[in-house]
Amino acid sequence: MSLNKRFFVTTPIYYVNDLPHIGHTYTTVAADVVSRWRRLMGDDVLFLTGTDEHGAKILEAAAGKKKDVREYCDEIAAGFKNAWKNMGISYDIFIRTTDLLHEDAVRKFTGGLNEKKELNFSKYEGRYCIQCEKYLTETELSDGLCPDHKTKPVVQSEENYFFNLSKYRDKLLEIIQDTCHPQHFEILPAERKNEITGKLKKGLDDISISRAEMPWGIPLPFDPGQTVYVWVDALINYISAVGYGLPGQKNLNYAFSDWWPADVHIIGKDILWFHCVIWPALLLASGLPLPKKIFAHGYFTVNGQKMSKTVGNVIRPAELIDIFGADASRFLLLAAFPFGSDGDISLDDFREKYNAYLADNIGNLISRTTNMVEKYLGGRLTVPAGWTDSNLQEIRQLFSEAAEGLESLSFEKTIRSIISMSTFCNQYIDREEPWRLASSVAPSDRQKLQKILYDVILVLKHITLLLAPLMPETSAKIWGLLDEKEEMAAVIRGMRDKPGLSLPSGAEIKKSPPLFPKQ
Ligand code: MSP
Repeated sequence: MSLNKRFFVTTPIYYVNDLPHIGHTYTTVAADVVSRWRRLMGDDVLFLTGTDEHGAKILEAAAGKKKDVREYCDEIAAGFKNAWKNMGISYDIFIRTTDLLHEDAVRKFTGGLNEKKELNFSKYEGRYCIQCEKYLTETELSDGLCPDHKTKPVVQSEENYFFNLSKYRDKLLEIIQDTCHPQHFEILPAERKNEITGKLKKGLDDISISRAEMPWGIPLPFDPGQTVYVWVDALINYISAVGYGLPGQKNLNYAFSDWWPADVHIIGKDILWFHCVIWPALLLASGLPLPKKIFAHGYFTVNGQKMSKTVGNVIRPAELIDIFGADASRFLLLAAFPFGSDGDISLDDFREKYNAYLADNIGNLISRTTNMVEKYLGGRLTVPAGWTDSNLQEIRQLFSEAAEGLESLSFEKTIRSIISMSTFCNQYIDREEPWRLASSVAPSDRQKLQKILYDVILVLKHITLLLAPLMPETSAKIWGLLDEKEEMAAVIRGMRDKPGLSLPSGAEIKKSPPLFPKQ
């Protein structure tokens, strides 16, 4: 396990063209799980999320609802905050691109690029997809339509400021490929890195970073007739939120100004290019440090189809919470398919996994074990004579694999290990049949009974610690049943020096209420 340190993690800032769905929830839950685990490990964590509120897409959405754009943004941003509260998301900063401090930062950043002669003014004609908020090249179009949104892009011809992106191609390639380069940043998973280097090798065009006819955005400080391109505006959030590299910025978050660079930007693979090429190039041009890592997870479909309002298969986080509760929803999202791969999500599959993993496996283990301790041992657990933890080697191994999964964002590994631990205990109980021993008065049977229940409660303690970042409320409830005097964080940190756990002798174990009622 790594040593204590600062850890700065971000999610994308989400467009406010609609309320959050489970796609946004997926990334945000992942960032939350990592943040919670790092905090438990003793790291000083900064978890940043927020909303992306400028540009044509938002203007259109507000007009569609016949609302003033600012009021509309306030409403949807509040909807995001509310959804995250209900999902137990422990962010530290929620940034909005309409925050005055952010707007000020964007002016300083773009003004700086202009002073450094990184921008050129020239004419551009291209096909712009409003839903993507980007120009599409001829090769990207399919039958003249945006391949993602199946809409015809708008032909735009205007004079804009261009950023010399092409100038950074060789440098970016070197930085990304040479792991010893002082500015190296990691792109994970490896296939995403290959995708970026492959594309970079093919060449790089300059990009327009302003719009001439966009009333809803941040005017360029040196040419107020132009507004900052919404993607440049959005990317800057990662440093404006911590008030970094912006001299004179009297930022409320000034206390965080030495937090940049981010340890990891967690994003979906749809916005890989912006984060791995455009953002680092903008930072290089501004003379600012680059993020340390970009992790792009996969994209999921819902019942085999792209999630969209037209298809009518959009799932909102509140729907999941209504069915499974917040904790189980968090778990199920990350249990659906490996983080980093593409996958499919369906309520049927969630129900199946909920029953198999949570109701029948972990939930059953907790309820039967705490029940037996109460019934057979009067609720009191004593360390069995001659007990050693030698037969818990396998559990220790599973615990460290699970912890490793939480650090490397391989949540599927963590979940698999937790389920293995629980299965191991359920099989142990089935095999040893403690209820038979309980009816015997022979001292050796009594001792054996104590040992079995002691072992299982000890494994349950390991499971509870691992569930803490994934299912914080449930894990705290289980912890409360185990008569544990220490905080979970202190116990986890203690395990760094001395792997393995113990239970105090005479611990009073409470009977668990049903935690995962069968669906
Ligand atoms: N506003 C930009 C991001 C700017 S970051 C400087 C944006 N916003 S978005 O609202 O479209 O959110 C995109 C992100 O939502 C994805 O990168 C991913 O994190 C998440 N997802 C949205 N739909 C998803 C799936 N169907 N599957 C997985 N993740 C999904 O892009």
